[in-house]
Amino acid sequence: MDKLGGSSWTVGLGRRDSTTASKDAATTDIPSPQLDLSDLITAFSNKGFSTKEMVVLSGAHTTGQAKCQFFRGRIYNETNIDSDFATSTQSNCPSTDGDSNLSPLDVTTNVLFDNAYFKNLVNKKGLLHSDQQLFSGGSTDSQVTTYSTSASTFYADFSSAMVKMGNLSPLTGTSGQIRTNCRTTKLTKRSCLNKNYERYDQIENIFKTVILLLLTAGTSSANLSNNFYSKTCPNVFNTVKSVVKSAVAKEPRIGASILRLFFHDCFVNGCDGSLLLDDTPSFLGEKTAAANNNSVRGFEVIDNIKSRVEKLCPGVVSCADILAIASRDSVVLLGGPFWKVKVGRRDSRTANFSAANTGVIPPPTSNLTNLINTFQAQGLSAKDMVALSGAHTIGKARCTSFRDHIYNGTNIDRKFALARQRKCPRTNGTGDNNLAVLDLRTPKHFDNNYFKNLLNKKGLLNSDQVLFNGGSTDSLVRTYSENNKVFDSDFVTAMIKMGDNKPLTGSRGEIRKNCRRVN
Ligand code: HEM
Repeated sequence: MDKLGGSSWTVGLGRRDSTTASKDAATTDIPSPQLDLSDLITAFSNKGFSTKEMVVLSGAHTTGQAKCQFFRGRIYNETNIDSDFATSTQSNCPSTDGDSNLSPLDVTTNVLFDNAYFKNLVNKKGLLHSDQQLFSGGSTDSQVTTYSTSASTFYADFSSAMVKMGNLSPLTGTSGQIRTNCRTTKLTKRSCLNKNYERYDQIENIFKTVILLLLTAGTSSANLSNNFYSKTCPNVFNTVKSVVKSAVAKEPRIGASILRLFFHDCFVNGCDGSLLLDDTPSFLGEKTAAANNNSVRGFEVIDNIKSRVEKLCPGVVSCADILAIASRDSVVLLGGPFWKVKVGRRDSRTANFSAANTGVIPPPTSNLTNLINTFQAQGLSAKDMVALSGAHTIGKARCTSFRDHIYNGTNIDRKFALARQRKCPRTNGTGDNNLAVLDLRTPKHFDNNYFKNLLNKKGLLNSDQVLFNGGSTDSLVRTYSENNKVFDSDFVTAMIKMGDNKPLTGSRGEIRKNCRRVN
């Protein structure tokens, strides 16, 4: 909770583990998302909680996701719902299938533990029926309004209610047991082992760690880890997130631009922050290379983050890592999946204009073979390439990037092409910088609609549509279009892999003080 930005409280300890479980109690006691307000109040009161505590604990839905099957009824049939919110949520939760498709419980900032959940309720944007019941003309409306305007009141009440929940009939003293594996009770699985089984567990764990170290040794990402800054700059993740959050709130597209910066950085000599460097008398930076010129944006946000992080922990966190973290935060803030970002990269002392300018970053005119090859050159598979292309579910492109496709492409929906032509004149040099969204359905939302567009021949770039053009990647595009969860999971895998690309670690490179200049 603390890590996601929420309140913090002292956790009382001393609980012991049960020796059994009860499916029946789990079925009857945990309230379902279909419940009305009066039933929610009863379900909590059965456990000794007040209505106020029920409302504040529901605020936990400021993070996390829910399956389509749990909110389908609400987004298709209910009236106490914002119509734009219902429509955009429907795009990821069809009326008849996609039961397991996930949507964020907090449509505004689902990775942050804040009071946006209550603001959403006031705006009729609660995802579950049970959420919106809390603000639906009933007795809890005023409490929701209070939390929506005062995060500190919410945090204080939430902490007390969490402490109270944690005190619900714990096993103490000699009742229950301390399990060695949280999934199994000692008696069932372990009873046949001798008394030294805890020791065996320890040996087994050491053995596993050694094998893991051996397997990862020698790979380029060996020194990246999730907790690289846990001692030297423990608050770096929160700091990055808060800057990205306000930038994305101001302009959602900036999240797309930051994600693209990371891609363009990683493809030129690895993820080393080289793209962030301005030109100097001794080298030309990468910002004016063909793939970047007049196109890449978001550097000011990275600068803001860097100056905040420098104040927090001077000379510790690299620009390359800031870019990796900010990209993940952008995806999450726009409704996409969360993952743990590996860190420990260092910054390059130079940039490479010519490497950036010679096609390592594929152009939008690429055919499928070229896309597969350019990604393979970075150690990424065709599958990674297709999943990563799903980043075009957000953001915009300039007319010059898609002109050829909308006038001369053959695998393009005619009406879509005509619509795009209206703001992108045929003649080179006219309207070159006019923008169009890459995902015509939900351009500010990170979802799998990009792939649905490809199935309908509505990919904006030639390099988008070649992924679904009768070739080897068709079936993957179809899978992602049908299953957002698979897309999310493959996207995350590929992002982590891309972030592992040839980082500078150890004593190589430096930690820049200013991302635009070497020290
Ligand atoms: C598969 C090969 C790819 C090609 C050919 C390609 C090409 C392009 C082009 C031409 C644009 C529009 C630029 C402009 O007109 O100014 C664009 C935008 C974008 N690209 Fe890609 N891209 C590819 C892969 C990726 C990957 C792997 C990512 C990230 C993981 C990514 C993220 C984005 C984003 C988010 C935008 C919108 C940026 C904004 O609105 O500022 N792209 N891409």
